[in-house]
Amino acid sequence: MLGFQASQRLRPLWLSTHLRSHNSRHVTRNCCFTGVRRKLHACVVGSGPAGFYTVQHLLKNNKEIRVDLYERLPVPFGLVRFGVAPDHPDVKNVINSFTQTAHSERFTFCGNVMVGRDVMVSDLQEAYDAVVLSYGAEDDQLLRIPGEQLPGVYSARAIVGWYNGLPENKDLMPDLNVETAVVLGQGNVALDLARILLTPVDLLRKTDITGAALDAIAESKIKRIFVVGRRGPLQVAFTIKELREMVNLQGVRTVLNPSDFEGIERVLLENIPRPRRRLTELLLKSTPQGSAGCVGHREWGLLFHRSPVQILPTADGERVGGIHFQLNKLEASGDTMKAVPTGNSEDMPCGLVLRSIGYRSLPLDPDVPFDKRRGVIPNNRGRVEGRAGLYCSGWVKRGPQGVIATTMNDSFETGEAVLEDISNRSASPQAGFESIRPKLASRGEELQHSISYVSTMLELQFFCTWLLCNGIYHPSSHLNVSHRSSGGVLR
Ligand SMILES: Cc1cc2nc3c(=O)[nH]c(=O)nc-3n(C[C@H](O)[C@H](O)[C@H](O)COP(=O)(O)OP(=O)(O)OC[C@H]3O[C@@H](n4cnc5c(N)ncnc54)[C@H](O)[C@@H]3O)c2cc1C
Ligand SMILES: NC(=O)c1ccc[n+]([C@@H]2O[C@H](COP(=O)([O-])OP(=O)(O)OC[C@H]3O[C@@H](n4cnc5c(N)ncnc54)[C@H](OP(=O)(O)O)[C@@H]3O)[C@@H](O)[C@H]2O)c1
Repeated sequence: MLGFQASQRLRPLWLSTHLRSHNSRHVTRNCCFTGVRRKLHACVVGSGPAGFYTVQHLLKNNKEIRVDLYERLPVPFGLVRFGVAPDHPDVKNVINSFTQTAHSERFTFCGNVMVGRDVMVSDLQEAYDAVVLSYGAEDDQLLRIPGEQLPGVYSARAIVGWYNGLPENKDLMPDLNVETAVVLGQGNVALDLARILLTPVDLLRKTDITGAALDAIAESKIKRIFVVGRRGPLQVAFTIKELREMVNLQGVRTVLNPSDFEGIERVLLENIPRPRRRLTELLLKSTPQGSAGCVGHREWGLLFHRSPVQILPTADGERVGGIHFQLNKLEASGDTMKAVPTGNSEDMPCGLVLRSIGYRSLPLDPDVPFDKRRGVIPNNRGRVEGRAGLYCSGWVKRGPQGVIATTMNDSFETGEAVLEDISNRSASPQAGFESIRPKLASRGEELQHSISYVSTMLELQFFCTWLLCNGIYHPSSHLNVSHRSSGGVLR
């Protein structure tokens, strides 16, 4: 993927040349798509993997359908762009497949439209035969403990957004002038954070991390990062590839306490799933008795059986100074092992706390059912319960769990449900974006930028990055960016 940093470097010359050279093509090409005979018209809300895979399934399996994709940001791709770690470019390659999908003349990208604020779901349902909600999990879980709001405590979501250039987080500038950082939670996001903060800057420079994050990490004083879990080594939520990257991180020593692994070898003799077995074997190899791991002047480690109960302030009360942990033991509870307090506790000094205990979906619109406890839209195979013509896919459908491949499968399932329902109904052609556009304009929110032609989604990315960098796009303004490969218009 051509990333954020690369696009910043290329932007001005590339953009202006490109736009000038295509000015004349605008009118003719624009006419092309207005002549397309409209049949079924669906829309998808959210342009992350769930949104794009749903679009892909619809376009591929019904040659009559048109799909409009609404996105609150001016740029597409959701967490693939703003979540996946910058040193994982291979993962970001899915953007190529999404770009292929976006080339379809039956596809329109409508960026910088926040559904639930700029346009309501009921408006969309009036304008489209089917509406699919794929808006992900935009919030994060809170610990709800004292001190959580102290300066120096950040959510993983904000830090990830910061190093990936998410508009609302790009100016975060966390204070890395501390020696010890603690990441709470032991999932893959926790390891992403620890890895990015400890990776040598010369390696990070080769990634598409933002320049501001690179500069801050170059100045970082962090010497050690503890990744702390409330349960034990057999319950960690991260996967082996991410653990291997940590264990092999250049110049960084892995610190594990052998006593946390007592009895684990016995468990490995039992019938446990292969991925868990291999992960646990690597953990065992990374203990001081094992053979894996690098030497280095910085270190990272896993601490187990600890639940944070208070974030402690420094003596002057100005910022985070440590964490008070309750120590846990494990008790079987149904199929899982539950952490229960032993009655003992421990204080750990640290200057930076990163809360990485999961993301959280929010209700979008009072009109759409939402299960607040589970943080999902109640649905049956993607059909929103009690709302004909309304569907969901991705994290908002099944919760903030699973990788892009998991999201792809559940989005295909939703796409299938849409197609089944649509084929059983007589098509009543809907106006789609044409009937939504006046609603946006009538709210006086549309920023008038009429740029002639953008031929690919990648070019659209460059263009939007340019808008962001030049302050033309502002989160409180509204630029409705539409893209059609048969003749792009930015409205
Ligand atoms: C930090 C992090 C790193 C990850 N790294 C990997 C990895 O390396 N490999 C992997 O396979 N998986 C990874 N994942 C998991 C993967 O990102 C998810 O499975 C996937 O992104 C979920 O897709 P989604 O489309 O449901 O949500 P998202 O990707 O979050 O997409 C939702 C989209 O909806 C938009 N939106 C939100 N609200 C509105 C609204 N009101 N109106 C219009 N649009 C809206 C958002 O801006 C966003 O573009 C990672 C997840 C995280 C959090
Ligand atoms: N490279 C990749 O493939 C990649 C990268 C990033 C993310 N992802 C995927 O994205 C999804 C989300 O990842 P994630 O790391 O945000 O979430 P996650 O995998 O659900 O991990 C959350 C972690 O937080 C802990 N936790 C939850 N509530 C807690 C609390 N109140 N107190 C203390 N600890 C708590 C969990 O412990 P318990 O187990 O005890 O609940 C778990 O260790 C995952 O499916 C992940 O695999 C993939």
